Amino acid sequence: MKIAILKESATAETRVAATPETVKKLQALGASVTVESGAGDHISISDAAYQAAGATIGAASDADIVLAVRAPTVDKIRSFKKGATVVALFAPHQNKDVLTAAAAQGLQTFSLELVPRITRAQNMDVLSSQANLAGYRAVLEAATVFGRAFPLMMTAAGTIPPAKVFIMGAGVAGLQAIATARRLGAQVSATDVRPASREQVESLGATFVMVDSEETKAAETSGGYAKEMSDEYKRQQAELIAETLKKQDIVITTALIPGRPAPRLITAEMVASMKPGSVIVDLAVESGGNCEVAKAGEIVVQNSVSIVGHLNMPGRIGVDASALYARNVVNFLTPLFDKDSKAFAPKAEDEIVAATCLTRDGAIVHPQFKG
Ligand code: NAI
Repeated sequence: MKIAILKESATAETRVAATPETVKKLQALGASVTVESGAGDHISISDAAYQAAGATIGAASDADIVLAVRAPTVDKIRSFKKGATVVALFAPHQNKDVLTAAAAQGLQTFSLELVPRITRAQNMDVLSSQANLAGYRAVLEAATVFGRAFPLMMTAAGTIPPAKVFIMGAGVAGLQAIATARRLGAQVSATDVRPASREQVESLGATFVMVDSEETKAAETSGGYAKEMSDEYKRQQAELIAETLKKQDIVITTALIPGRPAPRLITAEMVASMKPGSVIVDLAVESGGNCEVAKAGEIVVQNSVSIVGHLNMPGRIGVDASALYARNVVNFLTPLFDKDSKAFAPKAEDEIVAATCLTRDGAIVHPQFKG
């Protein structure tokens, strides 16, 4: 059994799917490991460091299992051995061509963002491991663009007031952003459509801002994600947000709805109403953006408000993001190996396998992406 680790080809992707630590764990599963040369270049893991952990440096084309962060390109997919397994963040809603190519190549593909949020799968939850780091980093990015300090400072030359930080979307990224902004001394408030998040926000010492409505009682799916809200709710939310935004220095938006474009929470008009020098970081920019003005991969300045649209926020903290992602991958793979025979034998009926498997036996098998 040969496992290969890809060198990521996407621009702005610094992460890698295995570290020397997890190369050892992959070998303990009974596999040999090959790493594409330069795979760890962005995060200072040299080919020699992978070799010291027992890997060889070489190509992925004859591997039985290929591990990657992003979906490989269609050309790359076509270079893999027929019947090979590929594990990555496939972003299947956006990469239909990759799925079609993977099916045609007879690959078994698993998409890690589809891992269900059940207790058994917590240590495989890449969305959480990466969102947590993204939330942390978003606050630091905001702090570097912001021309003022975060904490209250009383000095002989006068008092500096604390920065007011508003977090929109209090999921994994949002909660870490709250905690980070609080640690830096800011006054923090947050909003979400899921009422369950109120307690979490308040327990971190932030104020909760929310439209009270009957609808929010059902705003959460059984999987813990947000649902898309009605037009009337969106109108009320927009009014409340418009008033709140005028008073903020920093706004971090993290609101996502799985499989749908990110909800539009900040209009250009709202940006225009904000204080000069304030900063918005739109973490949802890759899913269409929470802020109308945000541009993917750019910092836009409008009416003296900076709107940060960095791509791949976890990649800006690539060492830790890779370490956690790589462990998530090992935790995902380990139960797919038979303990006694050490054979790689994913069971199609297993809940995690069924939820994540995109293609198998020449076809797209995932119910959400078939046809
Ligand atoms: P996400 O990344 O899908 O979305 C981020 C946040 O945006 C969510 O809190 C969502 O409610 C919010 N949001 C969506 N639309 C919004 C709108 N119009 N206005 C304001 N906020 C909006 O969510 P994430 O971070 O993946 O977490 C979702 C839930 O899953 C949370 O309750 C989290 O605690 C829970 N979770 C459960 C895990 C488990 O294993 N049981 C693991 C990780 C998270």
